[in-house]
Amino acid sequence: MASRPSLYAFLLLLAFQSTMIKVNTVSLPPPECRPEVASTKEKFEFLLNLLIYKIELFLRSSIGRGINDISPGLVQGPVPIGAAVANLDNTTRKIIEEFGLASIGHLRVIINTTLLKAPIPMPLLDISAQTYNIFITIILNGTKKSTPSYNPYANTNSFLFAAVFASSFLNQYYAGIMPSIVGNDERQLLSGIALYEAGVFGALRAELNARVNLTVPPFNFTVGNLTNLSSQLANQLAGCVVKDEGVIVPLQLGAENRTSSNIVSGDVNSLAYARSAREILRIAFATGNATRPGGIFPRGLTGTLYRRILALKLS
Ligand SMILES: *[C@@H]1O[C@H](CO)[C@@H](O)[C@H](O)[C@H]1NC(C)=O
Ligand SMILES: *[C@@H]1O[C@H](CO)[C@@H](O)[C@H](O)[C@H]1NC(C)=O
Ligand SMILES: *[C@@H]1O[C@H](CO)[C@@H](O)[C@H](O)[C@H]1NC(C)=O
Ligand SMILES: *[C@@H]1O[C@H](CO)[C@@H](O)[C@H](O)[C@H]1NC(C)=O
Ligand SMILES: *[C@@H]1O[C@H](CO)[C@@H](O)[C@H](O)[C@H]1NC(C)=O
Ligand SMILES: *[C@@H]1O[C@H](CO)[C@@H](O)[C@H](O)[C@H]1NC(C)=O
Ligand SMILES: *[C@@H]1O[C@H](CO)[C@@H](O)[C@H](O)[C@H]1NC(C)=O
Ligand SMILES: *[C@@H]1O[C@H](CO)[C@@H](O)[C@H](O)[C@H]1NC(C)=O
Ligand SMILES: *[C@@H]1O[C@H](CO)[C@@H](O)[C@H](O)[C@H]1NC(C)=O
Repeated sequence: MASRPSLYAFLLLLAFQSTMIKVNTVSLPPPECRPEVASTKEKFEFLLNLLIYKIELFLRSSIGRGINDISPGLVQGPVPIGAAVANLDNTTRKIIEEFGLASIGHLRVIINTTLLKAPIPMPLLDISAQTYNIFITIILNGTKKSTPSYNPYANTNSFLFAAVFASSFLNQYYAGIMPSIVGNDERQLLSGIALYEAGVFGALRAELNARVNLTVPPFNFTVGNLTNLSSQLANQLAGCVVKDEGVIVPLQLGAENRTSSNIVSGDVNSLAYARSAREILRIAFATGNATRPGGIFPRGLTGTLYRRILALKLS
């Protein structure tokens, strides 16, 4: 027979446990959406893949040159498949060139600070119109009309999507790893790079927003519609909660639930969204599976974290 004090102790324990359970279920995302265990150096190494993708896309489309043409010796590897100089308006071309060049500085300082050895091996990139068209084909599969093909290099409105896509991966990955970076130099480096990239993301989204009612040739929908559709696709492929949003959204996704304008996307408190390496892989591969390469990285990524994701079959 339980004495009164031990009954109290039991009830107290029960109350404590239910609090613990509540805290756990609220704060822990499902396993496939949690950040990977990795060292600071491995996180930077993973990041270099995304950075190289952004630089090659931005510089080849704006000025027809790659990283090795601008800063020889930093990277080594295959020239991207399907790169092309985009048919951009002059203002946009200057912006894209600037943002591409800036990331070369980021690449150089990451290599220097984290003691990764230059030349960094480049992943094989496929930035061809056909690859981007894979994403659009998935997006438009719901609609019955036969799909015209999407060419990001054909005009400014089309290119801005490809540009925002690349910048968004970087921002989301920075937001994911920032809290766990070890070392003062490394933390300072990451905050400097991440704040710069947040500026890039905002500037590009503002460019999209200025064109929100214009159509995206050869399609029959607006830039605003496409930001919606591409965000839905990213969320679907990543398989976690909503972390990508269009530039015009229902009120409940707008800041303080009071506005449909959404130039900078954010969570319920307008904090930047974080994505894990695997979430980004699922989107960039266009397969929804972090161990099944495709899309922009047809042979996968370089580095220890990616190899571990493969070895442990963390799809
Ligand atoms: C864009 O730049 C090119 C080359 O610099 C120049 O020939 C052209 O006139 C410019 N176009 C506009 C609309 O300023
Ligand atoms: C690399 O880091 C060292 C020490 O912090 C610095 O002196 C040097 O200028 C850096 N080199 C480059 C290329 O950034
Ligand atoms: C398109 O949708 C059909 C059924 O709705 C599905 O079987 C097919 O796999 C989809 N194709 C792509 C490319 O997503
Ligand atoms: C886009 O169209 C909507 C509705 O017609 C209008 O309220 C909005 O001001 C337009 N935005 C721009 C940037 O033209
Ligand atoms: C484009 O959209 C308009 C208005 O929604 C519609 O009337 C028209 O049939 C569409 N054109 C094509 C080619 O889908
Ligand atoms: C984006 O989708 C939401 C619904 O999710 C809708 O309310 C909004 O009007 C859409 N915006 C555009 C520009 O398509
Ligand atoms: C496209 O955006 C307009 C508002 O700009 C909205 O009324 C319409 O429903 C959207 N269409 C789709 C298919 O999202
Ligand atoms: C906005 O709506 C969401 C539910 O959609 C709610 O969780 C949140 O508290 C609301 N925010 C504000 C500031 O009212
Ligand atoms: C992911 O892809 C790998 C390799 O193709 C496959 O073995 C695995 O079953 C896939 N996982 C899921 C959840 O589809």
